Amino acid sequence: MKKILLVSTFGAFMLLQTPLAFSGDAADVSSLRGKNALDAEAKPIEKKKQIKTAAGIDRNWELQPPSIPHDISKERITLKGNTCMKCHSEANHKKEKAPAISKSHYVTRDMKVLDKLSSRRYFCVQCHTPQADVEPLVDNAFESNTLKLDNLLMKKAAQ
Ligand code: HEC
Ligand code: HEC
Repeated sequence: MKKILLVSTFGAFMLLQTPLAFSGDAADVSSLRGKNALDAEAKPIEKKKQIKTAAGIDRNWELQPPSIPHDISKERITLKGNTCMKCHSEANHKKEKAPAISKSHYVTRDMKVLDKLSSRRYFCVQCHTPQADVEPLVDNAFESNTLKLDNLLMKKAAQ
């Protein structure tokens, strides 16, 4: 009986608190989608120019999924098919002058090596993304380790 009383007192307390907790002015809160009330549409993000280069985009660390250096607006990855594989599969990549997906893309999560693309690598853009030359949305102190790695390897080779 005591317990029930305690629970219901707590419930009443929460009910009282709830309107108070949300009564702050939502317009004061600015997030990456701007100063928008939650139920209002945010302005669409300005479309930025994509970096496109046949030379590829440098990786920032070893084993980074390389960024996509070409247009992918017409590519489709659905349950029925994956148009990226028209160029990046083992069978087609030479003809298309594209790099083939690497060996890691054939390995399942149980470390079985398949003859075909592993389903865990099916949704390419989960890891590979196009890039635009823009200021970062949030400041960060990230530094690529590629240069450091190159220096390290050069030193080792000189030994
Ligand atoms: C019409 C052929 C074609 C299609 C389709 C295609 N690619 Fe490419 N991709 C290329 C070529 C060619 C390159 C080499 C760089 C260049 O010439 O743009 C490349 C480069 C890349 C690279 C950079 C590899 C590296 O080592 O730097 C990635 C990642 C990539 N593509 C991912 C994708 C993804 C993901 C899709 C589907 C959304 C896709 N590509 C669809 C032809 C294609
Ligand atoms: C779970 C993350 C992930 C997914 C999904 C994925 N990749 Fe990758 N990919 C990587 C990583 C990490 C690397 C670099 C390390 C390596 O080669 O395994 C890579 C490397 C590559 C390369 C460069 C190969 C080379 O020899 O330099 C290409 C091209 C590529 N992926 C294409 C694709 C395509 C096309 C798809 C979809 C069919 C895809 N990837 C799906 C993570 C992923």
